[in-house]
Amino acid sequence: GWKLENVLDEEVKCIKDTVGLEDHVICALSGGVDSTVAATLVHKAIGDRLHCVFVDNGLLRYKERERVMDTFEKDLHLPVTCVDATDQFLSKLKGVIDPETKRKIIGKEFICIFDAFAHDLEQKLGKKPAYLVQGTLYPDVIESCPPPGTGRTHSHTIKSHHNVGGLPKDMKLKLIEPLKLLFKDEVRQLGRILNVPEQFLKRHPFPGPGLAVRVLGDVTEGNSLDILRQVDEIFIQSIKEAGLYDLIWQAFAVFLPVRSVGVQGDQRTHSHVVALRAVTSQDGMTADWYYFEHKFLDDVARKICNTVRGVNRVVQDITSKPPSTIEWE
Ligand code: XMP
Repeated sequence: GWKLENVLDEEVKCIKDTVGLEDHVICALSGGVDSTVAATLVHKAIGDRLHCVFVDNGLLRYKERERVMDTFEKDLHLPVTCVDATDQFLSKLKGVIDPETKRKIIGKEFICIFDAFAHDLEQKLGKKPAYLVQGTLYPDVIESCPPPGTGRTHSHTIKSHHNVGGLPKDMKLKLIEPLKLLFKDEVRQLGRILNVPEQFLKRHPFPGPGLAVRVLGDVTEGNSLDILRQVDEIFIQSIKEAGLYDLIWQAFAVFLPVRSVGVQGDQRTHSHVVALRAVTSQDGMTADWYYFEHKFLDDVARKICNTVRGVNRVVQDITSKPPSTIEWE
């Protein structure tokens, strides 16, 4: 029978057999569940011949770099290099307003950094890393290549790397996809067996382009990223304190490129407007806006305006998907 408990042992053995005793493996960690569980599994199989990189693109949430690096190092003992590429990303994004252009720039910059990481490693090891870990899940596999017949078969976990968008071109890396027969909830269960902290396994999804698609317009203007981080943190912490985090698919704040008039103290202000968005969903394809109690919203809005300099108005997004999307850009 097909059992999750067996998957762990089989995968570890399979990775060991494939990689052998000499080769090195690289992995880009996003801070998300899939790449973290995939890397932890590979680390269990081959130890420190796994080399991970985590890129701070300057578009992460409040204290996110510190928080995820802590989990990688202290809880999971993963060998991770943290690259602070904030300036590199933000200088490329300067003046860019179009959402798809933002995504393209971020994707391209990420490849450059990953490329440099792989080449540095090659210098250090005196040989090229041979494999690349990816946290591909079963639904991604079905999408690209529907399997024939009935249930899942535990086939070989490794296929050669032909043309996975966004990876070092001249490296000729073979792919290791240890999660490719699993669904999201099974990845979480596997993460539990591997001692990935629970609060990490339950994190809301976060888009690859990060806060770049949550600051509408030019992300480098003024201190919009900084304001957004503070607002988002207050919103998320309030949701956690109210015990609502696990009921919500995704919750976040959005920085709007408009100012409105307010009165704070005995001063008129002309400051920023932020929006709060929270949705429930099964898979992100459709979503319903989440209904908070008035008291909760009142507390959050007051706290935001009282603590975050430069914000004098808070609005809530009350549209579902469709007609809206989850993100604003
Ligand atoms: P939308 O906004 O299209 O989002 O309703 C559906 C889900 O996808 C996430 N999302 C992204 N994830 N790169 C990602 O990795 C992206 O460019 C991106 N855009 C949206 C979004 O957060 C939601 O979970």
